[in-house]
Amino acid sequence: MNISVIGTGYVGLVTGTCLAETGNNVLCIDIDENKVKKMQDGVVPIYEPLLDTLFDRNIKANRLKFSTSLEEGLNHGDIIFLALPTPEDEDGSADLSYVLGAAKNIGKLLKSYKVIVDKSTVPVGTADRVTEAIANETTVDFDVVSNPEFLREGFAVEDFLKPERIVIGSSSDKATKLMEKLYKPFVRSGNPIIVMDEKSAELTKYAANSFLATKITFMNEIANFCEKIGADVDKVRIGMGTDSRIGKRFLFPGIGYGGSCFPKDVKALHKSGKDNNYNFDILNAVIKVNDTQKRILLPRIDAYFKGDLKDKKIAIWGLAFKPETDDIREAPALYIIQDLLERGASITAFDPEAMDNVGRKFGNQITFAPDMYSAIQDADALIICTEWSIFRTPDFNKLKAEMSAPVIFDGRNLYDVQDIKNEGFYYSSIGRKT
Ligand code: UGA
Repeated sequence: MNISVIGTGYVGLVTGTCLAETGNNVLCIDIDENKVKKMQDGVVPIYEPLLDTLFDRNIKANRLKFSTSLEEGLNHGDIIFLALPTPEDEDGSADLSYVLGAAKNIGKLLKSYKVIVDKSTVPVGTADRVTEAIANETTVDFDVVSNPEFLREGFAVEDFLKPERIVIGSSSDKATKLMEKLYKPFVRSGNPIIVMDEKSAELTKYAANSFLATKITFMNEIANFCEKIGADVDKVRIGMGTDSRIGKRFLFPGIGYGGSCFPKDVKALHKSGKDNNYNFDILNAVIKVNDTQKRILLPRIDAYFKGDLKDKKIAIWGLAFKPETDDIREAPALYIIQDLLERGASITAFDPEAMDNVGRKFGNQITFAPDMYSAIQDADALIICTEWSIFRTPDFNKLKAEMSAPVIFDGRNLYDVQDIKNEGFYYSSIGRKT
């Protein structure tokens, strides 16, 4: 099939590349000329495991192309994916100006029947608004479909190629059939393509992300409570998670959820509730608890240094909001860095992928180390913010020898409490007996 993808951000790029991988001819459109030029030269603009291999392969096979022309995109695709940004407005709602702006232009340029697909996470009712924006400009037949993505950063290619489910919100048989044909190669395993109305599809995405954020947040509160009563959250987590109704995944406590999705989507659903005279009390609490959780290590660090962090040398391992990504949006590390800088600490950080992004934000206020051990040289304490695999089994003797003091504040519970104490470390983690 011929497919066009409007917007080559994270979602658009993964969608376009993976659809090319199953033999479709994909044209990706972006207004950023520099970016398009680079992609034409084979440069992947984001870090995402496996993406570069697929990108390269499909460009070489002539199935993946790039352009800045919306008109070209519209003429090329039978299905046109909208993968445009929906940033968070000041009031927490999703800003639809990019999506609706593109819809209007599509209406102006439409020459024959197309299926227009909302791939971005958009508030309930957006498919109707996109339909209206296009219909205002044209009399040509078209359908709008909602097809939310469920990609995790770091696993996006895998998630796209082997989805647990595909959700299609459509009220047109013609559009549904085309979408089913497109996705069939991805669900050979027997996983379902679930067809529903557009509004339900739009809500499915927000409900799924908000539920997962709530699950994590609930566990963070249980962890905090464990500390108060002397219980061990690792035991509680396994005790709970083995109940198949609860499930083992997404029960890991830590320094809060971050990223480009959970924080934005929870707030947007909360706001959408308000707009429809419904108060999501539970989401209100999730937002509040997560804000506190991101800074949960700070009072402990303050207490350890007796409130005096001036010129203390603090090492940070992990800056990205989670491993396997360079994404720092809403990353807990940023909040911790900000607070430590305000206290006058001197920070040396290491992250395998995210240092450039953090550098752009904090400039020379912090130092970046070329590797994890350079970061801890003479450090008065180490703070772990992201659970990259390489941090899981460090050389503890090296840490003891090269740090100023053997002190670790672990926001991701990487080490066994007893083992690390036996190694002679002062160790503070989340929700476990010390
Ligand atoms: C999330 C969802 O998992 C995807 O299904 C969804 O498609 C995506 O948002 C999206 O809307 O685009 P992502 O934000 O990439 O994916 O990352 P997750 O792996 O879900 O992690 C989100 C945050 O939760 C991270 O900060 C992570 O550290 C935290 N987390 C996750 C925990 O604190 N504990 C856990 O047990 C799991």
